[in-house]
Amino acid sequence: MRNLFGGLVAVLMAVGPITVARADVARDEHSYAHLDEVRVKHVYLDLDISFEKKQLAGFAELSLDWEKPEAKRLDLDTRDLSVERVSAQRTDGSWANAPFTLAKRDPKFGSHLAIRLKDAAPKVRVYYHTAPEASGLQWLEPAQTLGKQKPFMFSQAQAIHARSFAPLQDTPSVRFTYRARVTAPEGIRVVMSADNEPGSDGKQGFRFNMPQPIPSYLLAIAAGDIASKQVGPRSYVWTEPGRLDAVAKEFEDIEAMIAAAEKLYGPYRWGRYDMLVLPPSFPFGGMENPRLSFLTPTLIAGDKSLVNVVAHELAHSWSGNLATNGTWRDLWLNESFTSYVENRIVEAVFGVDQAQMDQVVGQQELLAEMKELPEKDQHLVLDLAGRDPDEAFSGVPYQKGEWMLRTLEQRFGRDKFDAVVRAWFDEHAFQSVSTEQFLDFFGTRLLDAKDAPIHRADLDPWLHQPGVPKSALLAHSAKLEAIDGALADFVAGKKDAAALNAKTWVTAEWVHFLNGYSEQANAKQMADLDANYGLTQRRNREITMRWFLAGIRADYAPMRDALRAHLIEIGRRKLMMPLWSELAKTPANKAWAIEVYKTARSGLHPIAQNSVDATLGLKP
Ligand code: BES
Ligand code: ZN
Repeated sequence: MRNLFGGLVAVLMAVGPITVARADVARDEHSYAHLDEVRVKHVYLDLDISFEKKQLAGFAELSLDWEKPEAKRLDLDTRDLSVERVSAQRTDGSWANAPFTLAKRDPKFGSHLAIRLKDAAPKVRVYYHTAPEASGLQWLEPAQTLGKQKPFMFSQAQAIHARSFAPLQDTPSVRFTYRARVTAPEGIRVVMSADNEPGSDGKQGFRFNMPQPIPSYLLAIAAGDIASKQVGPRSYVWTEPGRLDAVAKEFEDIEAMIAAAEKLYGPYRWGRYDMLVLPPSFPFGGMENPRLSFLTPTLIAGDKSLVNVVAHELAHSWSGNLATNGTWRDLWLNESFTSYVENRIVEAVFGVDQAQMDQVVGQQELLAEMKELPEKDQHLVLDLAGRDPDEAFSGVPYQKGEWMLRTLEQRFGRDKFDAVVRAWFDEHAFQSVSTEQFLDFFGTRLLDAKDAPIHRADLDPWLHQPGVPKSALLAHSAKLEAIDGALADFVAGKKDAAALNAKTWVTAEWVHFLNGYSEQANAKQMADLDANYGLTQRRNREITMRWFLAGIRADYAPMRDALRAHLIEIGRRKLMMPLWSELAKTPANKAWAIEVYKTARSGLHPIAQNSVDATLGLKP
């Protein structure tokens, strides 16, 4: 399985016609909210963090914008929240308890919290606490941190996990500003996707303000032994003290990246752009929490070779965080534009060779992954009826959509295309968008011209059909073509490892080589490669993950200990799921994997645990 995030490829269900959900819909199929009646416009969170109980406890106060005051109800999303009490403000300003029901838990969508109101309440307060197994939070013991002294916790809300730590209208078609006050044990620093003040000591609680309206999946919090260091005029890095300097060095080009993005797509509108590097169990490469991207420590390779992930999360400050998919059906509007913008930033800051290599690797990995994806999941516009939106995250909304945008760019020319993309972000800033709006916007400004090289209807196979359309323009990289030649000679036995002259290869070259080699690997050649290039001991996890994959296939024993250590330490799904999946293919490897997993499991994020449980057949 080559799913980008290693998420389980969904079992294809019998599906009806695609329900066309526009961004202005009354309902999002993944939320219990009635959006035509009332919308949350501001949230105040007052929470205490208890590491002992592994819980957040306090209240959320929601300020409401009523469309239909006569509805007198507020429907919220929750998952595993215990609700102690709800109180509502009357239109006359007085407060009183409000009756509510918390429905039985749906395994995918959680529990519908239905609040009955006397009138069009301006504000509603929900007093609650979270469960230790909240799907959107991970609680780490001191042993799971770098410093080993203090506990750590962090949230991951996308796609619909915010509801496991705050009662909300948990849909990307609602935006709210927020403030928060969060208390924590002494010596613990709290940060949020908001205005983090490096000097704050948190004695009276840490206070936060997010004045730009955000969708719920961008609500984020982390707490632990976190220090900060300035790395640019508007950027700090935040991480455990023990890796602060390494992180600051790795990300020192951040201002160049912001400036490159601004030059292409207009001003950065969020104030500061900070980066938080989490412990290694963080399940993703990065998460675009506004003002404070959350990042995996596996990016700290020592040579800046993985900073494209930072470029990606930064790019979301335009694509996704400004113009936001209104429902998860249209996830591609977030991730395709972001992958495209990421590559433009990489080109501007690190050069065209690097950008081309990334494109080639991305396209080839997509083609490999699509061989195993159900056809329905190969469309950009996804049918997610009845499904957990996390299942939408394959390489398709990233790479296939980036490929479509790249094809448009090349056929229309950068001047024309860039101007339309910039206007798309500008004119939809802080709004939710849909595929239909995309078609109208790009249609009017580009595709509907009589002499246009690509017309609106030509996008249909990208949006609503499987595979990659014939009209797609393939990326090329002279550097990677040279690697193809070297690989062919190596596999044919015409060159040994030393003759590959691979000492100077950069990460993308190794990744490309190993992707091509993996299926044909043999243990003898791997020993030769290892002797020359020390691959088993590399620090760069994009390289070692592919090396281990080849090693499992070739039964290359000398890498087993390093593989075990990798599986125990690294919780980033993309870097572990392909390995668990490969191990599960033979009885002997599977037995070994189950043994390793006994140690690894407790260190993994709840969503990663679910994926591995299922892959190893351990699900009850
Ligand atoms: N928004 C995603 C992270 C995410 C993915 C959250 C799936 C929830 C479910 C983030 O922007 C992302 O795409 N991260 C990638 C970066 C890569 C494509 C450069 C990652 O984590 O690997
Ligand atoms: Zn992304």
